Amino acid sequence: MRRVHIQTFGCQMNAYDTERMREQLAADGWVEGAEADADLVILNSCSIREKAEHKLASAAGRLRDWKRARPGAILAVGGCVATQEGERLLERAPLVDFTFGPDQIAILPSLVARAAATRARFAATAFTDVEDYTFLDANPAPGGVAVTALVTIQKGCDHHCAYCVVPATRGPEVSRPIDEVLREVERLCALGAREVTLVGQNVNAYHGVHTDGERGAAFVELLRRVDAVPALRRLRYTTSHPKDFTRPVARAFAELRTLQPWLHLPVQSGSSRTLRRMVREYTREAYVEQIGWVREACPDISLSTDVIVGYPGETEADFTETLSLLEQIRYDSIYSFEYSPRPDTPALKLRLKDDVPAVEKAARLQAVQALQARVTAERLDRLVGRTVEVLVEGEAARGDGRLCGRAPGNEMVNFAPGPSSAAAPVAAGALVTVEVTARRVHTLSGHLTALIEAPRRAASSRRLPVVAA
Ligand code: SAH
Ligand code: SF4
Ligand code: F3S
Repeated sequence: MRRVHIQTFGCQMNAYDTERMREQLAADGWVEGAEADADLVILNSCSIREKAEHKLASAAGRLRDWKRARPGAILAVGGCVATQEGERLLERAPLVDFTFGPDQIAILPSLVARAAATRARFAATAFTDVEDYTFLDANPAPGGVAVTALVTIQKGCDHHCAYCVVPATRGPEVSRPIDEVLREVERLCALGAREVTLVGQNVNAYHGVHTDGERGAAFVELLRRVDAVPALRRLRYTTSHPKDFTRPVARAFAELRTLQPWLHLPVQSGSSRTLRRMVREYTREAYVEQIGWVREACPDISLSTDVIVGYPGETEADFTETLSLLEQIRYDSIYSFEYSPRPDTPALKLRLKDDVPAVEKAARLQAVQALQARVTAERLDRLVGRTVEVLVEGEAARGDGRLCGRAPGNEMVNFAPGPSSAAAPVAAGALVTVEVTARRVHTLSGHLTALIEAPRRAASSRRLPVVAA
């Protein structure tokens, strides 16, 4: 029996790709195992910031003893550092047998066989031409589908945000044909998924169906068609780019049965000057107007965003505008990062100097996070005392007998199950109502008040294997 162990870093793209790697290898007879007894370890890497890339180096370093103890074992690196570095990674990391990119997942078993047979080290990280690119269908084992599933709708990115490595690591944007997306949603729902998150780096630019050509129309059409899948209960998508976020996309929040009141719309900075220098192609004012459309369609929507501090040339005044934007919008949560120069990005080609000192970047990050911690708490507090719908994902992380799941706005809710009857089990996949009684730091607690709908079939309570970037 050959055992594989996969470690995943980075975003939903990598989480999705890891699932496809599992399926390809399972079809070739591999079973999953712990790292210590694995014959094959795959590190699915992320390169978005320098720290993410360091995580790959330390994970590879930790495998030294494993490799020494298991002659013949293979170490492969996939994901974004692999495509970024290719052959260079083989020079830098002597333990690595081969590197492969997201476009090589379909041939992963043959790459493993080649490494085992020849013991030669190689890089297989070329991008497939856009015209020839085909998406790999999800093919999960029955019982292997989580209640909340990811469905990829595009790969790559055609934007050129100056700081971002993704266009270099994932190649040009390709949209997945709408029929493939619908088939996959239906199949996952038949296997127990109840919530689907459509994923791509810039989902609003989706063009996998023919429409009248209006900006955003194809994405709205996709949302409508997925919303019509009868077994689906909840729909989300990520990530949106403000440049392509149109009014009809905002209106979908009022119009669709399953689309949940949650939107991740990365802003990056509250300063129009910085946004211009990031080549984001929108202004603060345009962004604020878009949030207005969204709140008009769905007043209680939960919003999240990404923020970069310490971008080259970011002045104190620019930074203050980011703080004021956070106060103005009042996001439910944010992800915030210090700017990190990345190889092959427009910022390097434009010779933008990483000139905000490290201590200043750290201070700005701290100021952003302190402000947001207060706003997040205030936003969560509004839910205390309310009854919310929760899609049960499984047991709460603490293992105290409570269950957990998310509210429509994506807030994590832990709750005591109360007495359940055998005819209507409250288990992963059930839709329930929970009365929220308290806020913990970033989560809510409460107790079950009613079962809305039992699971259609037993779904796995396995969570997606993401290690944060
Ligand atoms: N496609 C998504 C973002 C993918 S990367 C989008 O456009 O929204 C996720 C986040 O990482 C970005 O939104 C940005 O905030 C952050 N990020 C990307 N490159 C970075 C860099 N060089 N330094 C710091 N943060 C970065
Ligand atoms: Fe990167 Fe910009 Fe593309 Fe997002 S939209 S992946 S930030 S280049
Ligand atoms: Fe995702 Fe990291 Fe690549 S964020 S697209 S895995 S660089």
